[in-house]
Amino acid sequence: MARFLSRIAALAVLSCSTSAWAGASDPQEFTQIERGRYLSILSDCASCHTVPDSGQPFAGGRAIETPFGNIIAANITPDPETGIGARSDEQFDAAVRHGVGRDGSKLYPAMPYNAYTKMSRDDVLAIRAYLNTMTPVRNAVIANTLPFPFNIRASLGVWNALYFKDGEYRPNPAQSAEWNRGAFLVDGPAHCGACHTPKTALGGDKADRYLQGTYLQGWSAPDITGDARLGLGRWSKEDVVAYLKSGHNRVTAATGPMGEVVALSTAKMTDRDLAAIAAYLKSLPGRSQAPSALPADDPAMVAGAAIYRDQCSACHGLEGKGANELFPSISDSSMVRSDDPTTSIRLILRGARSVQTRSQETGPGMPSYGKQLDDAEVAAVLTYVRNSWGGAAASVAPMEVSKVRSDTALRPD
Ligand code: HEC
Ligand code: HEC
Ligand code: HEC
Repeated sequence: MARFLSRIAALAVLSCSTSAWAGASDPQEFTQIERGRYLSILSDCASCHTVPDSGQPFAGGRAIETPFGNIIAANITPDPETGIGARSDEQFDAAVRHGVGRDGSKLYPAMPYNAYTKMSRDDVLAIRAYLNTMTPVRNAVIANTLPFPFNIRASLGVWNALYFKDGEYRPNPAQSAEWNRGAFLVDGPAHCGACHTPKTALGGDKADRYLQGTYLQGWSAPDITGDARLGLGRWSKEDVVAYLKSGHNRVTAATGPMGEVVALSTAKMTDRDLAAIAAYLKSLPGRSQAPSALPADDPAMVAGAAIYRDQCSACHGLEGKGANELFPSISDSSMVRSDDPTTSIRLILRGARSVQTRSQETGPGMPSYGKQLDDAEVAAVLTYVRNSWGGAAASVAPMEVSKVRSDTALRPD
């Protein structure tokens, strides 16, 4: 009986959240194409499948960097020969939700089918209906440039056996419809874990470190659980929504890979969906045990304090409080204190111009200090910022700065 009741409850959540899943108050008003357009925004298909500034949306050819080498995203315009025009609905669905390519071969998980599998077949066919409205572009894409043995698609069977859980999202009946919508978006179409969940040596998710932050493509993506020290615990729900909608909030600004996610995807999501994502992320428990802060007379702290006063306090303030949304309040930024300091080091070396969105058009800039400060100085000022104003985190070593310096020198901004 109890099982029966919980099944009814699950169905109730499912049916009320399915109607929310189209993102409209009245899903009947949405045509399949419009629904597909919104789902493609939630899924950010355009980012990987478009060469930036090429003017050829979805025509493929963009290299997706993985630890094993680059994988080139396919042409998904309706061109019959080089795109998806001749694909049956079954074949399209098999690619997007199950990672099976045109001739039955396996796709590389750089295509996030392990997240998209949480969508329904209807969702995916709506995306296809939307893609079919694109101008067909002839562009034959050579799929991968990986070295042996990663160039052998058959080896992906092993990856799938280890890391791929095929199947649609199943609502958790113990949670609210909003929470379930958030979980569906984060784990499904929006594939936040692709960048925010640490990976194993084979590139699979470390399930026990879910959304706890990781290194990728020359950046570090921070912890986005509800953890109070490292994650979003000190952000209000409104802070999370503002960040995802505009790329800015009182604590931080989106610049690198996240700047692109905001511009192409989250900025175009409905407020209701953003609130659902925020509610879900903030509900995730934290993991951290705070280390103790370095003493103020530690040599790196003394050097860092002097550099901070001279170079940084004009914008970020002597107490690290910044100014509204113009200059981030680095005293409240958990990213600044994250275990992996890559993104903060990179911002100081290279500067940053944060993303522009409709709700905030001109992003203010952070100057670059790569020429002015040497590795030990960058390490000192970051160590100081990480251990001041009530915060505590491991000190940054000059070696870590050299590593980011040489790594980012090889990449475009
Ligand atoms: C994070 C990057 C990324 C995102 C986001 C992404 N893709 Fe892909 N996609 C790829 C890559 C890379 C490949 C090529 C994989 C391979 O060659 O094994 C691919 C392959 C495909 C294929 C298979 C093409 C073929 O020739 O078999 C289809 C279809 C596809 N993507 C559709 C989509 C759709 C629809 C979305 C949004 C719902 C999407 N992709 C989002 C990276 C991405
Ligand atoms: C392509 C990789 C990528 C994807 C996908 C991605 N992120 Fe991020 N995210 C990053 C990186 C890298 C940063 C930090 C630096 C930057 O790019 O601004 C970041 C920063 C953030 C921050 C700021 C946290 C802080 O403490 O400053 C939040 C919040 C966030 N992401 C949420 C999300 C959510 C929610 C999703 C899914 C809708 C998502 N991200 C998808 C790469 C990604
Ligand atoms: C001219 C004003 C200005 C000065 C001077 C400045 N910054 Fe920034 N800083 C910014 C702005 C604006 C941003 C947000 C830009 C972005 O992320 O796109 C920022 C972002 C940051 C961030 C990222 C915070 C987060 O969570 O997103 C860190 C860390 C940082 N600055 C540290 C420093 C340090 C250390 C110095 C001195 C060496 C410094 N800044 C000097 C304006 C400034």
